[in-house]
Amino acid sequence: MCGIIGIIGKDQVADRLVDGLRRMEYRGYDSAGVCTVKDGALVRRRAEGKLANLVKELAAHPAPGTVGIAHTRWATHGAPTTSNAHPHATGEVALVHNGIIENFRPLREALIARGRRFESETDTEVVAHLISEQVEAGKSPQEAVEAVLPQLRGAFALAIAFRQHPDLLIGARLGSPLVVGYGEGETYLGSDALALAPLTQRIAYLEEGDWVVITRDGVRIFDRENKEVERDVTTSGVTAAAVEKGPYRHFMQKEIFEQPTVVAQTLSSYIRPLEQTVALPQMDFDLDGIDRITIVACGTSFYAGMVAKYWFETFARVPVDIDVASEFRYRDPVLQPGGLALFISQSGETADTLAALRHCKAQGQTIAVVVNVPTSSMAREADLLLPTHAGPEIGVASTKAFTCQLAVLAALAAHLALRKGKLSAAEEREIVRHLIEAPAALNAALAHDEEIAAMAHLVAPARDVLYLGRGPDYPLALEGALKLKEISYIHAEGYASGEMKHGPIALIDEAVPVIVLAPSGPLFEKTVSNMQEVMARGGKIVLISDAEGLAEAGEGSMATIEMPRVHPLIAPLVYAVPVQLLAYHVAVAKGTDVDQPRNLAKSVTVE
Ligand code: F6R
Repeated sequence: MCGIIGIIGKDQVADRLVDGLRRMEYRGYDSAGVCTVKDGALVRRRAEGKLANLVKELAAHPAPGTVGIAHTRWATHGAPTTSNAHPHATGEVALVHNGIIENFRPLREALIARGRRFESETDTEVVAHLISEQVEAGKSPQEAVEAVLPQLRGAFALAIAFRQHPDLLIGARLGSPLVVGYGEGETYLGSDALALAPLTQRIAYLEEGDWVVITRDGVRIFDRENKEVERDVTTSGVTAAAVEKGPYRHFMQKEIFEQPTVVAQTLSSYIRPLEQTVALPQMDFDLDGIDRITIVACGTSFYAGMVAKYWFETFARVPVDIDVASEFRYRDPVLQPGGLALFISQSGETADTLAALRHCKAQGQTIAVVVNVPTSSMAREADLLLPTHAGPEIGVASTKAFTCQLAVLAALAAHLALRKGKLSAAEEREIVRHLIEAPAALNAALAHDEEIAAMAHLVAPARDVLYLGRGPDYPLALEGALKLKEISYIHAEGYASGEMKHGPIALIDEAVPVIVLAPSGPLFEKTVSNMQEVMARGGKIVLISDAEGLAEAGEGSMATIEMPRVHPLIAPLVYAVPVQLLAYHVAVAKGTDVDQPRNLAKSVTVE
């Protein structure tokens, strides 16, 4: 969602604030802004659109000062215009906000009735006015913030600067992440450790309801009862280099190509290759009594959960319910006592998923979390933490996080099956052998990059594209369609291939490319029959299969993509690669902004 940063420094801060925003631009890029405090004045510079516009604005109108705050926005309330861009300010106070103030309407009406004038349509501006009222009444910054925070409902991470106090910033968090960075004679606030990577690696993660007063050489943290507390200072391990593109044109491309490495890295925490056994990081965690699993996630992470449903049911014979997080809580789900609720998230901060997690926790479910950011809210609230080791994912379209999630979920399914007595030691060894093959198979899939790039022109002109798959490859069809939609803006749908004849086949004509995911295996023949029904109606097929599959069914396709022959268990990991590459190259051919597609943001921290 939005990204925020604050620096109270020894030297000028504007450039460093912008640099921090650059590393958080994946969180939102509708507008950006900076405010410094200089000689008793708030110096505010804002621009709509990408960060480059703010850079131009700052070149024309610099913002001097050694203390400042900055923001990159994903619009929720109010169009992405300059007047709605953060920081929002009054004469006394400027602030940046990530989240949503849900009760902003009554607060705004009351403020207007008290004579305050608003200059934006945002929910955030009410907070600036509320704090300003307190300051104007003679309260100190701390007293003002302490008085206002209890009035706010919803989610927020805030960084607040005060005109008359060039020696401090105040931060606060509830529902949206905020970290404090400790430098040498400097102190920082940021949405995540990534934003602060070149400034410091010494990070404290604020907890729900915390607020913090930072000065050049000190930090005072208070909890939601305003009691002063200590929070651990950890070394983040995130280096600035982790957020560089290297030789790649886009972050998404880099992240697609990192998959063999990061999947191997992730698997190394879940399997013992020599013994050929599965080993969860929290080995002592007792899963024996689990009779039902509820999986909740959003977007690409949800599709990883859909694949896992097949695995949990096939291997462990444990029934699985699965929901998108935004629907889950509101249908008042019936949760079996003693059940396992499993949440899957790259960021660990997705608001819908986090809310569902808390709902399940309150209902007494055991909470397992597959998550890529180990310091995220979800990671911290898990009973069973199952980290993926994909490293920072910057491209807005998720790629390497997805395949790492699948690797963890396959290992978890095997572990559960063993605990349930549904898997013999020999079968466990076989599963581990196939998982060990995954990185090499991913490499082999990536070797088809140029070929896929060359066929992008076949898909790029389409208005609609269909993706078909069966069994665990059906979620892959959904994922392929999502990837294409979000970065190339082509309308795409994923279907279970057997479902075509129940309606969608009416869409087929020669203008609609149909991407068929059909690895050799028990479901191959059935998928191919459905594909032939499409071909018989003039549909243009792109068949993705292995050499055997293509030899058997490739004839008559508009194009084919050959994958290595893999066991059906790892097919969803391997077949993720061609759908990612196809979406990527179609987007490049169309000239869209691959890493920052329109209207989207990574890490969706609002409901
Ligand atoms: C699609 C994509 C999104 C995310 C979704 C959940 O490419 O990235 O659909 O998968 O917003 O995000 P996380 O996994 O961070 O909870």
